[in-house]
Order: sequence, then C-alpha cells, then structure tokens
Amino acid sequence: MGRVKYLIAGNWKMNKVTSDASDLAKEIQHQAGNQTAVNVVVCPPFTSLQSVSNLIKDSNVQLGAQNMSAESSGAFTGEVSAEMLRDLLTNYVILGHSERRAYYGETDEVVNRKVHAALENSLKPIFCVGETLEQREAGQTLSIIQDQIKSGLIHVTADKADSIVVAYEPVWAIGTGKTATPEMAQEVHSEIRKQLSELFNADVASKIKILYGGSMKPENADELLAQEDIDGGLIGGAALNARSFCGIIESAIRLSA
Ligand code: PGA
Repeated sequence: MGRVKYLIAGNWKMNKVTSDASDLAKEIQHQAGNQTAVNVVVCPPFTSLQSVSNLIKDSNVQLGAQNMSAESSGAFTGEVSAEMLRDLLTNYVILGHSERRAYYGETDEVVNRKVHAALENSLKPIFCVGETLEQREAGQTLSIIQDQIKSGLIHVTADKADSIVVAYEPVWAIGTGKTATPEMAQEVHSEIRKQLSELFNADVASKIKILYGGSMKPENADELLAQEDIDGGLIGGAALNARSFCGIIESAIRLSA
C-alpha cells in the first residue's frame, strides 16, 4: 500500500493584515494551486479568512483556521464558532497548538471539546501534540504525547477519526530554528500511529495523516518528509513566504512521484 497523500499546511499565526494575506495567498495559489499530488492548506488569521477563501476557492489550495470555540453559538464574546468557519468554506482547523495551550490555558479537555465541535461541523481538526524541552530531557516525550492523544481524542469514534490530522510539534523546535532530527521525529510519529491503531483500528490509523511541525523549511523538508510515518508538515515561519512554503510543497511533490 502506498503512503497517503502528503499534506502541507501553513500556520500564519498572528501575522499579515488582509492585503498582505491576499498577496501571499495569490502567490501560493499561483505556484501550487494547480497540482494535485499534494494537499495544500493555508491557515490565515480570522480577519483574512474571507478574502483568502475567495482567492483560493477554485484552486487546489484549501483553507484552515488557527483556532475556534468549543461552543456552538451564544454569549461568548470574542469567540468564533465552527459554523462560522464552515460558512467561509473553511476545511481545516488547527486545535491544541502549543501556543494556545501555553498562553491561553487550553487544557486537553478543552481541546477535546473543540475536536468534537469541529467533527460535528465537518471541519477537519489539525490536532497538535508535543513535548517541551524539559519533558524531552526528562525522558517523558512518549508518555506526554500519549496522554495528549488519549485525552484530546476521547470519545472520538473510528468512523469519524479518519478526518483528523495529527500534528507532532515538539515545543522546543517551534520558531527556534531547532528541528527534530528525522529519526527523532519518525520515532514519535510511529508511536503515534501505533497508539491511533489501538484507539481506532489499523486501517483508520493508516489513513490519519501525521504532520511534523517545528522549524520545517525547504532545506530540511526532504529528509523529514521521507520518513515512513511523516505525512506532511505544519509550517509556521517558512509559511509566511511563498517561495519557502512552495519549496516545501515541491519536496512533497518530488517524494510523491
Ligand atoms: P515553525 O512553527 O515552523 O515556525 O517552527 C510551526 C508551528 O508552530 O506550527
């Protein structure tokens, strides 16, 4: 059996006003919007979702959001619901990013509620897990990731699970220029696949894409993406520039051939 199609997702974080977001989306669409070998997703800030959605709607570039509420509607000032994201033709939503966990107090329980809200609204969660440097140095990496997956995916059923994307993002590698070696990443990814197989079944686990995130760039994309259980990347810094983002997409296209 061949591997699943690679997914390359750009997490723009809190960067780019709408005009800059539109420029970037246009360039990405121009360079990667016609190929079908690789799934490409861009996740602009909420303020640019509408304009980016309009620009990419007839291309092979798909839209993602960076967060959403676990609630469906009502008195939740400042929040954005799954339905509102669907309304803008959003396909994916990043959930449980380590920045949300660390700076906004998102617990595994909150992340789990968001995962369910996304699935109920046909949004594909890009569910993030990852250990801190202290946890890695204490030899806790695998147990931390297992706990995050178990709690974050509680009560998710096998029939819905294959629309989940898992992103392994070692916290110490995010925005730091430090990348996990391909071997380190593969070790964690294969454990994640094993756990998904136990939680759901082997067939579902083989369909769930497991992305690597943390200082991925064109220079290291080939060797990371070549690993058996690395099905794509969640890219921060290098996604803010069309050339570097599309360089990573090209790696994935080459490896798919
Ligand atoms: P980075 O960010 O590529 O800048 O390390 C990845 C992420 O936080 O999703």
